[in-house]
Amino acid sequence: MNILVTAGPTREPLDPVRFISNRSSGRMGYAVAEAARAAGHQVTLVSGPVTLAAHRDIQVVRVTTAAEMGAAVVKSFASCEALVMVAAVADWRPVAASAHKLKKTGRPLVLRLEPTVDILGQLRSRKGDRIVVGFAAETERLVEEAARKLREKQLDLIVANDVRGTHTGFDVDDNEVTFIDSGGHVEHLPVMTKAAIAQRIVSWVEDRKVEKKTKRGCA
Ligand code: CTP
Repeated sequence: MNILVTAGPTREPLDPVRFISNRSSGRMGYAVAEAARAAGHQVTLVSGPVTLAAHRDIQVVRVTTAAEMGAAVVKSFASCEALVMVAAVADWRPVAASAHKLKKTGRPLVLRLEPTVDILGQLRSRKGDRIVVGFAAETERLVEEAARKLREKQLDLIVANDVRGTHTGFDVDDNEVTFIDSGGHVEHLPVMTKAAIAQRIVSWVEDRKVEKKTKRGCA
């Protein structure tokens, strides 16, 4: 399969030396890309700024901002059969980035932020037969919030994780996630390495592909 994966945070510049971002390390997304490659798939990885390296057989597209990530994903989406959107896309960006370094004035600095593009949201109408998997990082009402995103973004699967834990979630090797699929099936997985979770996600995508083919065959 041709699988498109996104990973890492995005950075939204305030001025030439500062940006707004989040705690994503990219480990989960890189693990998904690697699991897909190891399973024999063709992988394109759209990556925000991280310090990780990908296997040479993975085609890496490096981006910085949400707008750049959106453009790169849209470009590769047409030719992919599955998208696994692991990236922690910044939800807001400064309305205007200063061309020069902002100087201290002794007074509070008020930032005006505007929403970034919802990348998965804008792909809804072009989904076709593709399998689309999203991630949801939550601090409260994990399953309800993730299920809402699954519906609103018309996903096949959402992988939800509670990012309040200190040994799971951001910038660590392990994670504890819940799979929620479009059929309403909810599966809580135990704490596992991100590599093991990535394999489960790739297997899920492979199974869904077979299911879709079988359904088409019966139709
Ligand atoms: N996502 C996206 N574009 C954005 C923000 C998020 O495509 N601008 C994707 C993420 O990659 C993830 C899914 O949407 O796969 C859910 O992201 P999350 O940040 O958990 O949710 P939000 O859509 O930002 O919703 P909320 O603000 O309610 O948490």
